[in-house]
This record gives sequence, structure tokens and C-alpha cells, in this order.
Amino acid sequence: MKATAKAHTNIALIKYWGKRDETLILPTNNSLSLTLDGFYTTTTVQFREELTEDVFFLNDERILDEPYRRVSAFLDLIRKMALREGSYAEIHSNNAVPTAAGFASSASGFAALAAAGSRAIGLKLSEEELSRLTRQGSGSACRSIYGGFAEWQMGNEIDGSDSYAVPIAPQEHWDVRVAAVVLSDVAKDVSSRAGMKRTVDTSVFFDSWVNSIPADLNEIKAGIMSRDFTKVGQTAEANCLKMHATTLGAAPPFTYWQDSTFTVMQTVRELRQQGIPAYFTIDAGPNVKVLYLPENEQQVQETLRQVPGVADVILSRAGQGISYLDEA
Ligand code: PMV
Repeated sequence: MKATAKAHTNIALIKYWGKRDETLILPTNNSLSLTLDGFYTTTTVQFREELTEDVFFLNDERILDEPYRRVSAFLDLIRKMALREGSYAEIHSNNAVPTAAGFASSASGFAALAAAGSRAIGLKLSEEELSRLTRQGSGSACRSIYGGFAEWQMGNEIDGSDSYAVPIAPQEHWDVRVAAVVLSDVAKDVSSRAGMKRTVDTSVFFDSWVNSIPADLNEIKAGIMSRDFTKVGQTAEANCLKMHATTLGAAPPFTYWQDSTFTVMQTVRELRQQGIPAYFTIDAGPNVKVLYLPENEQQVQETLRQVPGVADVILSRAGQGISYLDEA
């Protein structure tokens, strides 16, 4: 009753920004991401008869507060599916996601937990079932089941049965790279959960955001299929700017950007003026991710490192989907 799984984080090129159901985690729009090899979580789940509650270790440290409750509540879903309520587990999770890189470890974390937990309890889930389960831990995590490019289809059913991710193109399809630009002074974020909710509830731009998604998805999928970097980069960058615009139309208004966020965005535009194709995207925080092609790696990295306010630049390639490491 033990299983270990590894999952990588992903960066959204078409953003998930808005929920229609907070409990089931059902989105108001489809989203599309690239799974990254540089950032991952490895999780071992072992169900043990003598346990009377779950026990959770993150990077070898016992966790007792909110993250523990989220993990245990997620295992409740797995217990329910397996008709094994009353079975508790010891969970060991290790993050190779530098916290400072501004990647939420929740995507790789919940994908690895769903995979290891469901295997350990004896469920044999298809990728679709696994993605649907993972979604209920953290929405963006449902895309991390797959390597390469994946799309989370929002679905229409109120029970969430048709809301899960599907693969668009595997890791081997295209060697696109991502530089995570880590800023030195990062103020505390409005969580993605709180930011999304305020946007859905109050932003005067929210409907326009949602209505603009289908065209962006068509465009980016065509770009991915034909390996058209300009098309993919332009679409991703514009989609990110629209998502962030919705926060300015919320009440009260807010933004995730800082001065150095703008400086990095401007640097990416200057790279393009010099003939280097590079495009940015930004999640629910001030750090910037830059998309580029392998032949420009050195120049992109050197240029970004010189930007004032940049603490580090971490490079990543396209990553793989869920893998299982050992079972007993
Ligand atoms: O799944 P969450 O709650 O971590 O929200 C993710 C939201 C964004 O990162 C901003 C966009 C996305 O699609 O990943």
C-alpha cells in the first residue's frame, strides 16, 4: 500500500483565471500550459493500518497547519473513491521547486499526491480520471498529469465530470524553453484563490476576459502544432496581459506587478527589437517567466541577469508528465 510519484510544475500560456465553483474547483475558461522539467515534486504515500490520522512531511519536516489540512482533505477524496474511509496514510513530499522562483509548488504537489495516493490505495485511474481528481486539489495541477503542452477543458457539467486536462503535444514535440526570472524584493502576494475570486465577483473586465479565450486558444494551438514561435509567444504574452488587466478592473483594484516586473517586461520587448524572439508571461505574483528558443539561450539569460532587481534566472526545458518511481 505504498507508491511514489513524481510530477512537474507547469506554466500557463493561456491562463486559468476565474472559478465557477469554488469547492469542486471548476474554471470559467479553458487554459493551456507547458510542463517544465526543472521544477518538480516527488511524493510517497503509504497507507498504514496503525494510523488514526494522516501524517504529512514536506521536505522532511512534519507539517501540522493549513497545508496539512489541504493534503488530508484531498486524501479524503481518494479514500471516498476507493471506499476506504478510515484508512490513513503517511505522506512524504519533496519539492525541487525553488520557492523563490515564483512557481506555485501546488501544481506539482497535488499532481504527485493524486498519483501516489490513488496508486497506494489500490485505484487504477486513467489519465483523465487522475486529472479530474488532481483538479480538486489545485486547479492548475490538473494540467501537470501530462508532459509538454496540455489543455484543461473547463467542461459544462455542474458535478465537474467533464472538467479535466488533455494532452495537446508531448514534450518531444518542440524544444521551447522558459527562463524563470526571480526578483529580489518580492512583496507578499494576494493568493491566486483570493485574486481570482475578487476578479470574478467584481471586475468590470471579467466578461471580456472570458469571451476572449476561445480565439486565443485556437491561435496558440495552431502555433504549437506548426511550431510557430512568434504566434505562440505573441498569443501567450497578450493573454497574460489581459489576465492581469482584469485585476485592475476589480473592486478594490489590485495588481501583482512591481517596478522590477515592468523592467523585465521592457527588457523582453527590447530583446525582440534586437531580433531575438522572446516573450513573457506572469502568474499570480510579480515574477516573470520568459519563453525563448534554444539558440538564444545564452543571450536571453545574460540580458535578463543584468536587469536591476533580478536576483536569479533559472532555465527550464519542456518536462514530462507523471511518473511512478517505486511501488511495494
Ligand atoms: O491553480 P491555482 O490556484 O494555483 O491558480 C493558478 C492561476 C495562475 O497561475 C495565475 C494561472 C494558471 O493557469 O496557472
